[in-house]
Amino acid sequence: MAMTGVLRPGHAQLRVLDLEKSITFYRDILGLVETGRDDRGRVYFKCWDERDHSSLILSPSDSAGIDFIGFKVLDAATLDQLERDVRAFGIATERVPAGDLLETGERVRFRLPSGHLFELYAEKTKVGNGLPSVNPPPWSMDADRGMAPIRFDHCLLYGPNVQANKDLFLKVLGFHLVERILGPTEAGEPEIGIFLSCSHKTHDIAFVEYEEPGKLHHLSFRMPTWERVLRAGDIMGMNRVPIDIGPTRHGVTRGETIYAWDPSGNRFETFAGGYEPYPDGDPITWTFEGFPHGLDYPQGKLHESFMTVVT
Ligand SMILES: [Fe+2]
Repeated sequence: MAMTGVLRPGHAQLRVLDLEKSITFYRDILGLVETGRDDRGRVYFKCWDERDHSSLILSPSDSAGIDFIGFKVLDAATLDQLERDVRAFGIATERVPAGDLLETGERVRFRLPSGHLFELYAEKTKVGNGLPSVNPPPWSMDADRGMAPIRFDHCLLYGPNVQANKDLFLKVLGFHLVERILGPTEAGEPEIGIFLSCSHKTHDIAFVEYEEPGKLHHLSFRMPTWERVLRAGDIMGMNRVPIDIGPTRHGVTRGETIYAWDPSGNRFETFAGGYEPYPDGDPITWTFEGFPHGLDYPQGKLHESFMTVVT
C-alpha cells in the first residue's frame, strides 16, 4: 500500500493525577523511554522502537482522561490540504504553533463530532530507536525494560455521533472501515462501534457510541508477539497493576490482548496479533448478539467493567 495522507497515530496527551507515580509506571513498569519535560510540567515518552521524539505526553491534572490525539501526515502540503478538506466538511480548525509540544511542528487541531480534540501534524523530530540504520540488531538490550511495547498502536474513544465521525474519517481523512459492531436492532443505531485504519493495521483509531463526549476507553501499545503480551501480564502481576480483562483474544480484529489501568485509572492495552487489511476489503460485521465473542472470543463474555468504565 502506498502510504500517503494520514500516516499513523503519532501522539496522545493523557491526563494523570499523580505525576511522579505516573512517570514511574510508564517508564519502569510499562517500559517507555522518557524523552523530555516542558515548562508546563508535561513529561514526554516514546516506545523504544518508535523513531519520532514522543508518542505519549503525560499532563498533570485533577481528572484522568485524554486531552487530544494527534496523527502524523506525510508532509506540510498534505497538512494544508487536509486542513482545507476538514473545513470544507464543515468543521472549524485552528493552528497550534510549532514548539507548543516539544520537538513537534505546527498542528492543525479540530474537534470531532464525538467531542474529542483531534490533531494532524507533519513534523516531529526524529530521534531514532537507539539502533544503527546500517546492519542493526533486531532489538536493543538497553530498551528491554518493563513490558517494553514497540509502538503506540491505536486508541478506542467513546462519544456521541459515531456516524458523523465515520463520515469524516472515510470521506475526508482517507481512512477505511475494517470492522464494525451493530447495535440492538430496536435502537435504530446502525453501528455502535467502528474500527478505522489509515494503514495496513486492523485499526489506527476506533469509536464506540456513548452519551458523554470526549471519553477515553484505552490507549493501546503494540507488543511484538503473543508471548510478550503474556509476559506483560506477568509484569502487571508482579507490580500489582489492576487488570480489566485478559489475557485473551478479541474476535474483533483478532487481537491478542490484556487491558489494565494506569495509576490514574486510564485504561491501557498491551496488544499483539491481528491481520493486515487492505482498503478494498469489505468490512467485517459483528452483530449485537455476536459481540460477546467479538469482545472476548474464548469466553464469549461481555465484561461489565470493559463496557462501562471510561475516563
Ligand atoms: Fe485496542
